[in-house]
Amino acid sequence: MTDQVPSRAWQANIGYLFHPVIEQHDNMRIADVGTGTGIWLRDLADALPNTCQLDGFDLSNIMFPSKDALPANIAFHHQNLLLPFPDEYIGKYDVVNVRVMVVALSSNEWEPAPGGYLQWIDCAAHDCVIKGVPEGKQASNAQRGLDLFRKTLNTLGKTSNIAILHSIFQKSGLVSCEEEICSLDNPETRENVNLAVVVGIQHILTAAFKLHKLDEIQSIDQIMELKEAVLGDLHDMSCYFCYDVYVVVGRKLD
Ligand SMILES: C[S@@+](CC[C@H](N)C(=O)[O-])C[C@H]1O[C@@H](n2cnc3c(N)ncnc32)[C@H](O)[C@@H]1O
Repeated sequence: MTDQVPSRAWQANIGYLFHPVIEQHDNMRIADVGTGTGIWLRDLADALPNTCQLDGFDLSNIMFPSKDALPANIAFHHQNLLLPFPDEYIGKYDVVNVRVMVVALSSNEWEPAPGGYLQWIDCAAHDCVIKGVPEGKQASNAQRGLDLFRKTLNTLGKTSNIAILHSIFQKSGLVSCEEEICSLDNPETRENVNLAVVVGIQHILTAAFKLHKLDEIQSIDQIMELKEAVLGDLHDMSCYFCYDVYVVVGRKLD
């Protein structure tokens, strides 16, 4: 599945699904907010005893896997994280996880929801760079893709500073807040990270084009041509995209 590409690359670089500060036990209740296909929960289900209950929440249910393909301890729920959650879910979780919301939320929507531990894993997408370009050469297509990506994130009002997460956690009254920054530089995951960034650029440009917020592009075909040109640079010059992933964790006092 395509969702496994970035997920496994992140996993290989970060080295864990839960930050080590989170205490684990056999009857954990875990929520994953903005779960998408539930890939993080499905990986977690493989790592935890089946006595743990795993709940995924998302604004859209189109990516939820069918029930038959899931372990019995995973459930999915249709829920906008910006709206109040039903009482049955409030204060019931040992861990609330949020991952890759930097491109989903606008910068004024970054306030964490309540829970036991809150773990937020996200990427410094704006600060993505190209590494490994041979001396004397220029990866101009890859650079154009990145420049347009960054500009489009700004146009769509996405946050440009992931480093604020830690202070938002503290401001929100979470305690024992920790932050770990992992650079996605593991040579074994470079190809996966490249692919994930190129697909990310394609998706954000397509979304902006459909909203008529992308002056530089006149058709979907042009986006696909840019995508191929970026992939061409990465392949021909053996260069790679690299960005930091932030893991921020904090605990709500009972
Ligand atoms: C980039 S995907 C990340 C999926 C998943 N967390 C992962 O790590 O693979 C962002 C997800 O957030 C969801 N989302 C965006 N805004 C949301 C909101 N206000 N409430 C709940 N989910 C939201 C989207 O539907 C999408 O599934």
